[in-house]
Amino acid sequence: MSDYDLVIAGGTVVTAADSYGADIGIRGGRIAAIAEGLRGAERIDATGLLVLPGGIDAHVHLDQPTSDGTVMADDFASGTRSAAAGGNTTVLPFAMQIKGQSLRACVEDYHRKAQGACHTDVSFHLVITDPTPQVLGQELPALVRDGYTSFKVFMTYDDLVLNDAELLDVFEVARRERALVMVHAEGHDAIKHLTRRLEDQGRTAPYYHGQAHAQIAEREATHRAISHAQLIDVPIVIVHVSGRDPMEQIQWARARGMKVHAETCPQYIALTAEDLRGLNMDFDGAKYVCSPPPRDADSQAAIWQGLRDGTFDIFSSDHCPFRFEGPGSKDNPRARTSFKWVPNGIPGVETRLPILFSEGVSKGRISLQRFVALTSTNPARLYGLYPQKGSIAIGADADLTLWNPTLTRTIRQADLNHGCDYTPYEGMPITGWPVRTLLAGRTIAADGRPVGTPQGGHLSRLTSEAYS
Ligand code: URP
Ligand code: ZN
Ligand code: ZN
Repeated sequence: MSDYDLVIAGGTVVTAADSYGADIGIRGGRIAAIAEGLRGAERIDATGLLVLPGGIDAHVHLDQPTSDGTVMADDFASGTRSAAAGGNTTVLPFAMQIKGQSLRACVEDYHRKAQGACHTDVSFHLVITDPTPQVLGQELPALVRDGYTSFKVFMTYDDLVLNDAELLDVFEVARRERALVMVHAEGHDAIKHLTRRLEDQGRTAPYYHGQAHAQIAEREATHRAISHAQLIDVPIVIVHVSGRDPMEQIQWARARGMKVHAETCPQYIALTAEDLRGLNMDFDGAKYVCSPPPRDADSQAAIWQGLRDGTFDIFSSDHCPFRFEGPGSKDNPRARTSFKWVPNGIPGVETRLPILFSEGVSKGRISLQRFVALTSTNPARLYGLYPQKGSIAIGADADLTLWNPTLTRTIRQADLNHGCDYTPYEGMPITGWPVRTLLAGRTIAADGRPVGTPQGGHLSRLTSEAYS
């Protein structure tokens, strides 16, 4: 009888702390040994490959209904297939409350959609859009105790925005229940004002989305969120930080000892506001409309510095896929009349890891250890999944990504597995690509394609390490 169900042999094991050559022995879906010369019933030869903890994408949107009838391009099946092909083993999507809806009912809805469909493990963040006394007093505390230990709040969007009093109320519940609040920090009134002015001037092309969602509005909201968190003394995560100005607010808070964590995303290192011009200011720019929008070269440089120096804890995709063409797509008749009707969000769950590896590790901007920390270990720590996830250690889930650091590819929509009909990264050359993804020791993707039937489950989470 073999000691292990599976041995991954001859690879270079990479963690957030170090790299070393070793075999990994897997038994019962967990890592049972890390040593040389292991033998198992099955063997995968990882010679020349890096063996990484599976990617954890802590910010994805799947099968979310929208207020205007636009249909998200990925459900839980296609979104997690795409995630697996991109080297991820866990994704954290949102269960988004619709105003008037019970939070518990909302969570049950999302579980129904995800049930039996997931190729990776999943765990829901909540989104609080209607902080009624019932939600704040009963439903939210009960859900946090059930393992939904993080939730998102919005400082903009007509149907999602919370005012300052509501934010403070929600922060108070988070502190009491030891939940982590994720903040979408963009100033609603400033965006509305800029949008009106641009529309008055006939500036309605997708390009102007970038001007309406000015970095100043993001900076102001980031500071406001930080101030509210300071008043309540609660840790927060500022999600999808786009550039230098909001980063400076985060650094200001950290220098004063506040527990302010930060996330950034591929669009802020690989795209700029110029991409929203499309082909000569046409509707093609809608392919890049997301919020906050991509900024400029100076902001990209600042983001790289923040990825290196620890300003950013995590690097997530903010995968929020809408088709570019066809019914229910970005290209709906109203969207053609003004950028303000273009659905916000772009796809990226499959390309997150390759883009950061190629632009970061292959180009010498960040170390391999930092890559693993940003994309797997830190999200696991921040969102209460560590050490079951995000580590290569005895007893951890055997969620592993085998990575070829020298494989060169070009990102092409034709090769991707998401439900979207375009990628904003079309034509981008990449060095370093995942060649095999294993969830609990089972292969869920190989050579850029999902493998097998859905095996992923839902994870209940611990309190965030932000509270330790
Ligand atoms: O444009 C974006 N990012 N859409 C997704 C929703 C969000 O704010 O994360
Ligand atoms: Zn957001
Ligand atoms: Zn998002």
